[in-house]
Amino acid sequence: MTSNENVYYVKRISGRKYLRKKWCYLIEWEDYAPEENTWEEESCLMGNTELVEEFERQLIKEFPTNPNLVHTHDRIVLSGAFDPESSISESPEPLMVLPLTSKTNSKTNNKRQATDNHKKGSPRKSSRKTVSPELEYDVPEKLKDNWNIIKCGRSKEEIRRFLSELDNSVILAKDHTHKLIRTSATHSHFEGISPRVEVVNTVDGDPFPTDFVYIDGMIFGEGVSPPDPLFLAQCDCDNKLCSGLCHENETLVYSQDGLIKALPGTPIYECNENCECSETCQNRVVQRGRQVPLQIYKTKAKGWGVKALEDIPKGVFVEEYLGEVIKDTAGDFRGKFYDKAGTTYLFDMDFGDYVQYVIDSFMLGNASHFFNHSCSPNLTVYAVYSDSGDVNFHRLAFFSNRLIKKGEEITIDYEGKNKGDTDIPIPQGSPGKATFRCHCSSPNCRKYIHN
Ligand SMILES: C[S@@+](CC[C@H](N)C(=O)[O-])C[C@H]1O[C@@H](n2cnc3c(N)ncnc32)[C@H](O)[C@@H]1O
Ligand SMILES: [Zn+2]
Ligand SMILES: [Zn+2]
Ligand SMILES: [Zn+2]
Repeated sequence: MTSNENVYYVKRISGRKYLRKKWCYLIEWEDYAPEENTWEEESCLMGNTELVEEFERQLIKEFPTNPNLVHTHDRIVLSGAFDPESSISESPEPLMVLPLTSKTNSKTNNKRQATDNHKKGSPRKSSRKTVSPELEYDVPEKLKDNWNIIKCGRSKEEIRRFLSELDNSVILAKDHTHKLIRTSATHSHFEGISPRVEVVNTVDGDPFPTDFVYIDGMIFGEGVSPPDPLFLAQCDCDNKLCSGLCHENETLVYSQDGLIKALPGTPIYECNENCECSETCQNRVVQRGRQVPLQIYKTKAKGWGVKALEDIPKGVFVEEYLGEVIKDTAGDFRGKFYDKAGTTYLFDMDFGDYVQYVIDSFMLGNASHFFNHSCSPNLTVYAVYSDSGDVNFHRLAFFSNRLIKKGEEITIDYEGKNKGDTDIPIPQGSPGKATFRCHCSSPNCRKYIHN
């Protein structure tokens, strides 16, 4: 330590992330245990660029085959480094982050230093104050009203982890986002999305949720890699059109017009990039994307919903459930917060052997984020394999199960009951689960819905 108690020495940088449009570094402090490592903004380094250069050199050493990592905006931590944000139970109280001061005694020696962004005065433990996670990260709009209830019973580190994960999701999605373009007081649409997705509110003055991020493809969360095409099996169809039985499908999946023929509950194996058939073969529908225009609109009793802008015949692929793919454990963690908010946007990939991945569309999604529940839904969900050889990693695709008339609301069954199921017990609600009174107005409405 120097005579200036506000100066601390940096041993090395052992991680980097991009948060709220700023680079942040995981700092290992001289004379402090790894458990005292902290994430600090770049300004804390006071222009000591050689620290960053050393970190980048180390990164290249550790990942010689992936030189692009030096430029990644993803969170990255060197091997063996202690990351206080990913070891919740052992982590010490978070440190105070103060505005940068200029009290640094830079003459002391030519050791690298950081300023008292990181307050390590004595007595160290008691002098520390914590910054509330809500000051570091925005609380999502949808959670603001009940935030005190939602965070009740959660430790500061859990709250920080939750908010920082959501913040990070938005950064991960940055190359896949589409802006909302307003064309009148009541009408907007998403830029670059075709067929169009409109947003219309003629019911009240509520604006469309400003922090919802519209995405055009799946986002892979921390620790989840996109499926590896190496493991994709080819089909051996004689004709290049795949008009017969193809892949592991037990029946013909799609008609010549691309309408679904497979029964609900049957997984669908589409042709993939390793197949030798043509790009227009009969066994590629979901991978070609949505072909029907949709409108997200404000309903009278269910918040926002989705309606058809044209008649949609039976059997049409309407939309894929998009969001951030996270591990099931991360889904459980986020679910505790969402359930308390009385809503959830988590969809398990549960057609495989066990649930390994969950799609979270709370912050990021497409029109399917706004599909409301109906006890007599007009969409049915199917598990679709088109880019993955992993049985536990599949897409979730919604198909119309009857003709949907222009202007009609498009709905799904949140409890995954199949159409035609009549013997369904009425759920009474369970503590901790997001449950709401159903306003689907179908004759066989189950009255209460568990998300
Ligand atoms: C996945 S979101 C659907 C989009 C939502 N309406 C919105 O504005 O973001 C689920 C929430 O929508 C509402 N909701 C969906 N279906 C409903 C229904 N049948 N009756 C009442 N509320 C419904 C509930 O508030 C539920 O927690
Ligand atoms: Zn094929
Ligand atoms: Zn094919
Ligand atoms: Zn209902």
